[in-house]
Amino acid sequence: MDQYDMVRKAMASVRKVTDFVPEVAIVLGSGLGALGERVEDAISIPSADIDGYLPSTISGHEGKLIFGTLAGKKVVVQKGRIHYYEGYEMKEVVLPIRLMCALGAKTVILSNAAGGVNEAFRPGDFMVIRGQISQFVPSPLVGRNDDEFGPRFPDMSEIYSPRLISLAEESAREVGATMHRGVYLQVSGPNYESPDEIRAFRILGADAVGMSTTVEAIAAKHMGREILGISLITNMAAGIAGPLSHEDVKAAGKLAEKRFLPMVESIVRKI
Ligand code: HPA
Repeated sequence: MDQYDMVRKAMASVRKVTDFVPEVAIVLGSGLGALGERVEDAISIPSADIDGYLPSTISGHEGKLIFGTLAGKKVVVQKGRIHYYEGYEMKEVVLPIRLMCALGAKTVILSNAAGGVNEAFRPGDFMVIRGQISQFVPSPLVGRNDDEFGPRFPDMSEIYSPRLISLAEESAREVGATMHRGVYLQVSGPNYESPDEIRAFRILGADAVGMSTTVEAIAAKHMGREILGISLITNMAAGIAGPLSHEDVKAAGKLAEKRFLPMVESIVRKI
């Protein structure tokens, strides 16, 4: 079965549980999961109950979709992201974002934990994504195209919405968070990069590096959605400061959560 039929099957599973139509879809990055607990009147559907939706193997937590209200808007929040490095195909990685869009979400907020490639950044800073480099991982659009979802050759000249970038910068100011604007580059992972790779990525124009997001943005853009991307800089990329560890990445996520949560709520309120 191809990815579009998989999305249709997954939709049928969700529709057996709820007819909720979200306005905004939110994908939570490493360490940023607490936003899920802020959703009011929540209906939670575990990934195991959704046909074709694969379990996230990474955090030890089963993935789920949470439907409900956040800052007065109808949202669906994806907890437990699926990564390419877990051994899944890109079409499987983007199934949740496609599903949330197909269920009605017109706006997509993608968050992630990322390494700072730009040496002006500091751990704990945020970066609103203004552009992306996705050529180091396969495109999620490889394979048969389904014109009901989007065009065969979608334009990617403006993946991230300038309107949402401005909103995010305004909300960051409100909550006192440092927010840069920059380019996110996706690698496959799961190994962190070498210092030489980071130097090469900097020459290519990257400000931050991570193991998710660009393929989800491509899938959502294919479906014509308005997209916002926010990176939490959890660490400086390889070769800039000390060695990297997943524990440090998660700990930085926890520390940043007290600014991330009100910032995202403020953004959602203004959308
Ligand atoms: N590299 C890749 N992915 C990451 C990093 C990094 O330095 N930090 C958090 N996710």
